[in-house]
Amino acid sequence: MKKTKISIIGSTGYSGKELIKILLNHQMVEIVHLISSTYAGKKLCEVFPEFLNQSDKKLEDINLELITQDSDLIFTALPHTVSMDLIPKLLNQRLKVIDLSADYRLKDPLIYHEWYEIKHKDIDRKFLSIAVYGLPEIYREEIKQAHLVANPGCYPTSIILGLAPLLKNRIVEGENVIIDSKSGTTGAGRNLSFGLHFSECNENFKAYKVIGHNHIPEIEQELSNIYYLGNQDQKKLKISFTPHLLPINRGILSTCYLNLKNLQVKENEIFEIYKDFFRGEHFIRVFKPTDLPEIKFVTGTNYCDIGFKIDERVGKIKVISVIDNLIKGAAGQAVQNMNLMFNFPETTGLIL
Ligand SMILES: NC(=O)c1ccc[n+]([C@@H]2O[C@H](COP(=O)([O-])OP(=O)(O)OC[C@H]3O[C@@H](n4cnc5c(N)ncnc54)[C@H](OP(=O)(O)O)[C@@H]3O)[C@@H](O)[C@H]2O)c1
Repeated sequence: MKKTKISIIGSTGYSGKELIKILLNHQMVEIVHLISSTYAGKKLCEVFPEFLNQSDKKLEDINLELITQDSDLIFTALPHTVSMDLIPKLLNQRLKVIDLSADYRLKDPLIYHEWYEIKHKDIDRKFLSIAVYGLPEIYREEIKQAHLVANPGCYPTSIILGLAPLLKNRIVEGENVIIDSKSGTTGAGRNLSFGLHFSECNENFKAYKVIGHNHIPEIEQELSNIYYLGNQDQKKLKISFTPHLLPINRGILSTCYLNLKNLQVKENEIFEIYKDFFRGEHFIRVFKPTDLPEIKFVTGTNYCDIGFKIDERVGKIKVISVIDNLIKGAAGQAVQNMNLMFNFPETTGLIL
């Protein structure tokens, strides 16, 4: 069987490394180039000894001609702004790209400018208009046809999947949506940063970017599409979002508070709505109202576990959604998207 040829740019970052792990166990693909500006020339297993006996591959400096000619699909696991410099040079009639950064997630380049404090390079939307938001449970058919997939952010993945059934079925109001999320430290990437030192994070728990986290416009864009059925002229749904840093390596738990429209609705009716919405979805596990998801249930997996409780006293529903930020929140979801784009069974390589 002819294998699909894959390259990864940004292969030594946390998400890039996770992609390598998954793809080395994926029967339908072959890794042809692993690009690293820092470690070019070294073997993968010299930089990360955990790959000993698994891969002898050398990390390479980027050579655009070679990588575009040799690959069927390129994953870009780069910081935002770096991706948008590169992707227009990679895409062609044949080659497909899955970008793990935020650069092609927001449809409006002016909103990107506002939240990322840098002008988007694609102001005429040549590439933004073809980019598909890579959340398979919502955009499966579009992803199958896509040449450029914007892989969702980690917080947005947990939140959008947790809230989509309630918003789509208009069980809740679109106003006063409050979201409180907690992430492990790998969510911030591998770059050195004072606030992420062991002694700063260990035995500690803190909120950060309490106002203005740059995942907010992505969450609002997607929740608005679901609630207002894609009608962009409609009012935008707004959220109040507070992220927190957990003293663990990986995992996200989001707690979302929404006002119920009908105060008579019962938990078992909502459970049926969730089951119905996610019917046939391998990677979504909806918990009975008697149980709640925990981060450790999903660590190292591509699952998103969702639970909820109705708080009758105040007329609210509380939704709790957990993912592994590096798998369903990044590399696993990217491979799920690849499987769709190349018509492989969707779970290939992801039953971890
Ligand atoms: N971490 C998560 O949980 C997560 C979840 C969802 C999405 N994402 C997104 O996925 C992308 C990658 O995230 P990550 O956490 O894997 O990041 P990371 O650990 O910081 O890795 C990014 C890699 O990109 C390479 N790179 C190339 N040019 C660079 C430049 N100008 N500045 C810095 N690095 C450069 C670096 O590898 P070399 O030096 O070897 O080239 C670096 O290791 C980001 O856009 C991030 O927002 C991350």
